[in-house]
Amino acid sequence: MMKSFFISILTCWLIISANGKYLTKVSQTDNDNDVYQIGFGIGDITGPAAEINMMGYAKLGQNTRGIHLRLYSRAMVVADQSGTRVAYVNVDLCGSAQILKILVVEELQKIYGNDVYTHENVLISATHTHAGPGGYFQYLLYIVTTEGYIKESTHAIVSGVVKSIRDAHDNMEPGHMYYTEGTLTNASSNRSPASYLQNPEEERAQYEHNTDKTFQLLKFTDLNGKPIGMVNWFAVHGVSMNNTNKLISSDNKGYASITFEQDFNGYTNVGKGPFVAIFGQSNEGDSTPNIMGARCLDTGKPCDFVHSTCNGKNELCVAFGPGKDMFESTKIIGERQYLKAKELFEKANETIKGDVHFVYQNIDMAKQTVTLDDGREVKTCPAALGFSFAAGTTDGEGAAIFHQGTKKGEENKFFDFIRDFILHPSKELLECQAPKAILLPVGEMKFPYEWAPELMPTQMFEIGNLVIVGLPGEFTTMSGRRIRNDIRKIYADHGRDVHVILSGLANTYSNYITTPEEYEFQRYEGGSTLFGPHTLDAYRQQFRYLAKQMLSREKISSPGPKFPNLLKKEITLKPGVVYDAAIRHHFGDAIVQPKETYHAGERVEVKFCAANPRNNLKLEKTYLTVERYENDEWIVVATDANWETMFIWNRDSVLLGTSDATVLWDIPLDTKPGLYRIRYFGDHKNIIGKIQEFEGASREFKVNELPSF
Ligand SMILES: *[C@@H]1O[C@H](CO)[C@@H](O)[C@H](O)[C@H]1NC(C)=O
Ligand SMILES: *[C@@H]1O[C@H](CO)[C@@H](O)[C@H](O)[C@H]1NC(C)=O
Ligand SMILES: *[C@@H]1O[C@H](CO)[C@@H](O)[C@H](O)[C@H]1NC(C)=O
Repeated sequence: MMKSFFISILTCWLIISANGKYLTKVSQTDNDNDVYQIGFGIGDITGPAAEINMMGYAKLGQNTRGIHLRLYSRAMVVADQSGTRVAYVNVDLCGSAQILKILVVEELQKIYGNDVYTHENVLISATHTHAGPGGYFQYLLYIVTTEGYIKESTHAIVSGVVKSIRDAHDNMEPGHMYYTEGTLTNASSNRSPASYLQNPEEERAQYEHNTDKTFQLLKFTDLNGKPIGMVNWFAVHGVSMNNTNKLISSDNKGYASITFEQDFNGYTNVGKGPFVAIFGQSNEGDSTPNIMGARCLDTGKPCDFVHSTCNGKNELCVAFGPGKDMFESTKIIGERQYLKAKELFEKANETIKGDVHFVYQNIDMAKQTVTLDDGREVKTCPAALGFSFAAGTTDGEGAAIFHQGTKKGEENKFFDFIRDFILHPSKELLECQAPKAILLPVGEMKFPYEWAPELMPTQMFEIGNLVIVGLPGEFTTMSGRRIRNDIRKIYADHGRDVHVILSGLANTYSNYITTPEEYEFQRYEGGSTLFGPHTLDAYRQQFRYLAKQMLSREKISSPGPKFPNLLKKEITLKPGVVYDAAIRHHFGDAIVQPKETYHAGERVEVKFCAANPRNNLKLEKTYLTVERYENDEWIVVATDANWETMFIWNRDSVLLGTSDATVLWDIPLDTKPGLYRIRYFGDHKNIIGKIQEFEGASREFKVNELPSF
């Protein structure tokens, strides 16, 4: 008792004196100090695991029905000696959204006041997984397939992001940052090579590859050299899980994150920290993980190079990952990123030194005037999507809302509702966006309210000689390279050699950004470049401005208009859970039991009488556990967040309200032999809307030693 009291006093004194050291050495100018206050945090953002359309492929009927991997928000907060801080947040989502940023900053300001975390120093970037429930956008274009705004999705995300930042804030301690970079080949390929080829030959000749293979990594340690976190950036789409998948998954980057974290935190504690590994997204616009390339489903032959069609048919041309199925492809592409990160984490030895700065500005991308290098003045346009947007990509056929012959039962009531209000594009818009053939003039569509965002957040962080650029959309390989070169040059002109890091899908989503040359070609990415042929030129001008502003160390005089909050206008046609019922069984009964014995490497399958998972999202919890009997108690060895488990929910009868849940466990090879069981945790809703928890367990089963051969 006495001893621990003295230790506490001593610890307090050490902390106070350490903090004192920082506080007295406040400095406004750049310096050589390599000690930062660093904190990491993680929060669960897994939205509704049933009945909600997944964000990414815009495919009707691709609604969630279970979990393979939980989705997380991972946050890093870094402050220099003067106390200037930035929060870098990476979310397992298809895209970031204005409304998320608004709500997150609001929550943070309630906790910390108005000056600690703001729109300017918080950057929220998405991994671009296509396997999460949607509906967390305020603009209609992105919530058509979810039949409107989904409150449950948004709340789950906001609470998890805020938790991750709070934890990072609370975990802040003095430490160091180390940088290194490498290249990762064979984890990505270009899915629009014909479009990439439109870029000037001299420019292409400067690069070996037609996707960005740069792998940039930051290692964080405490003052004793103990690792506390890692962040890296690599450009590759989160589409290893294809558009037939209905299980929530953080895709290849999520796999890499949890595997890296397990090395520090243990196998079971997925998503619980303390070590956090962020696999961030970059200029992935045309970069696919489906590296075996596209081929025709009917003939097995290569698709048409320019149009990615087979005999004129778009849906027959599909790209494949390196695995035997999408799960294995996710694992392979995830593992390649994980292994590269391991290698670079060991190597990282360039110490980051110097102050923290940030700049931020919202700009109206529909109305930018750009002065090109040759002196010409050009303009951006109100947002519009071309026909090639509807065709989709070889990673997933086009937005099915535009397809004729949608299967019965999959019609989108929401789209039917608004279809009649879609305007014909104005003449000015057609001219401005040329040569785009406009399908959806989203910038001119204001009914029932705004369809697409036009206010785009532009943001840069500087930490010593690192410059992190927040790009509000999917920049293609060459678009990203142009931005990176511009910024590097501006710093070089000021005598500074910096590492420029492109953080894609930051702060809001605005589809794609191609080079003007790629735009002219109007493949999917060009057709999805919202603000016309000079979209990239406008961003280049803006980021050059931000870089100069950052170097001047002056605050931007106008951070631009604030994001509007459209929540009051949001519409949803998606019904909630009506009620659950159990017939012939009780909720939680195991209706298919496991076998008596298994060997490691086999798959255990158990089915329970279930209720709708939307009744309780189980944030920071789990729908299932795999447990081992040890010393008279059951120990949890895996949850629904582990790679080896799957939670699959199935609606038996809408009318009766009955459902079942299958739990799969692929027994890892290094599993301890012993007695195991599987448990399921649910919540059912009765006819008058009361929600009640329940649980169930399978019978016990044995996992035997691996047979020896
Ligand atoms: C690239 O990945 C594929 C698929 O996993 C593999 O077959 C091939 O050998 C790899 N190529 C190289 C050069 O490593
Ligand atoms: C998706 O992956 C599954 C295997 O996991 C495969 O059977 C299916 O053909 C793929 N579909 C598409 C459209 O890529
Ligand atoms: C960092 O490591 C590399 C080898 O990986 C070595 O060449 C370089 O000199 C090291 N730099 C420092 C600053 O230690």
